Amino acid sequence: GATPDPADGKKRADTTAITNIATLVTNDPSLGSGPLGLIQDAAIVIDGDRIGWVGPSSKAPTTDNRVDAGGRAVIPGFVDSHSHLVFAGDRTAEFNARMSGQSYSAGGIRTTVAATRAASNNELNANVARYVREARRQGTTTIEIKSGYGLTTEDEARALTIASVHTDEVTYLGAHVVAPEFADHPEAYVDLVTGPMLDACAPHARWIDVFCEHGAFDGDQARTILTAGKRAGLLPRVHANQLTHGPGVQLAVELDAASADHCTHLTDADVDALANGSTVATLLPGAEFSTRAQWPDARRLLDAGAVVALSTDCNPGSSFTSSMPFCIALAVRDMGMTPDEALWSATAGGAAALRRTDVGRLSPGARANLALLDAPSHVHLAYRPGVPLVSAVWQDGELA
Ligand code: NIG
Ligand code: FE
Repeated sequence: GATPDPADGKKRADTTAITNIATLVTNDPSLGSGPLGLIQDAAIVIDGDRIGWVGPSSKAPTTDNRVDAGGRAVIPGFVDSHSHLVFAGDRTAEFNARMSGQSYSAGGIRTTVAATRAASNNELNANVARYVREARRQGTTTIEIKSGYGLTTEDEARALTIASVHTDEVTYLGAHVVAPEFADHPEAYVDLVTGPMLDACAPHARWIDVFCEHGAFDGDQARTILTAGKRAGLLPRVHANQLTHGPGVQLAVELDAASADHCTHLTDADVDALANGSTVATLLPGAEFSTRAQWPDARRLLDAGAVVALSTDCNPGSSFTSSMPFCIALAVRDMGMTPDEALWSATAGGAAALRRTDVGRLSPGARANLALLDAPSHVHLAYRPGVPLVSAVWQDGELA
């Protein structure tokens, strides 16, 4: 907020101190202990839309407002670096069939494409708003949103325009699957995605993504698409090695993509490439949960030295969850992560996957994006799965 300053009549940002924090996760090792930069009995000062100060609660400076955390934990807001929120309808029947034994395939995407094309702008915008609110209630303060359920020049451009209303992290995913009209001419669809569709979409996006998988785009097509995107000023990220071993991870590293997402089926060479390159390995356990697939091996990646992010992949087909705490619980239970590692990956890891340094940490100068938990520490996010522990969320300094 802002209040008038009587001295010069200019607006001055409010300062708010949150005191009596049992555990503050800063993700800044210079401010506290370990990689999470943990401070016990801490306070944090929000100055306008930024973090102004962090330190021991007893030393908290005088501020306009004060919030008593009552011995609870404060963490950076989650950075969900992978979601597909611009869609209409859902795929309940497909989920039901899968839970009765049918397996997941990329083909289901076309069901959502039909529903999305038929929806009005208002309906799509209201859907995105609803899922972004839902995510924020669960602690998410930065979210990446992809297109990919339009698959025409017009429908992809409008998906990106709608996504831009809700986030700065907008991703052009015209290469989600080959559009149904091009089923017999996939190369013509690649020409569209890298030609007129790219021209219409590039001004509305920061990122370009491609689903590199059997049934979607092969390695050569993915390289063509990402390279064209780079020429148009977009930064690459890749849906890689989700359903099968494939060239996606190697391609992501080769093109210096910010992130290779899914990383479920990896060879030792893939793990080495991620460990030695600048591409973050983004794991999306909601997808394996909702498709009853094998878990990505976070432990293997971490032990090799790769940077790991956790995200929801929120979409109506493979992972209809907006909950980062749920993903943390799965990663700890089934993917070999410690609660500390999972919290880092869901915050600082997501920021790395979006090449952002202003989010995912709570040090002076960072965006005031934070969550107050109904728990004494972040460990409870995994220890108490399914319990809504996010009690309050500040986004850019505003109580959301
Ligand atoms: O990340 N893998 C491709 N895209 C989504 C699934 C989209 C869908 O099934 O509608 C994913 O899992
Ligand atoms: Fe995805």
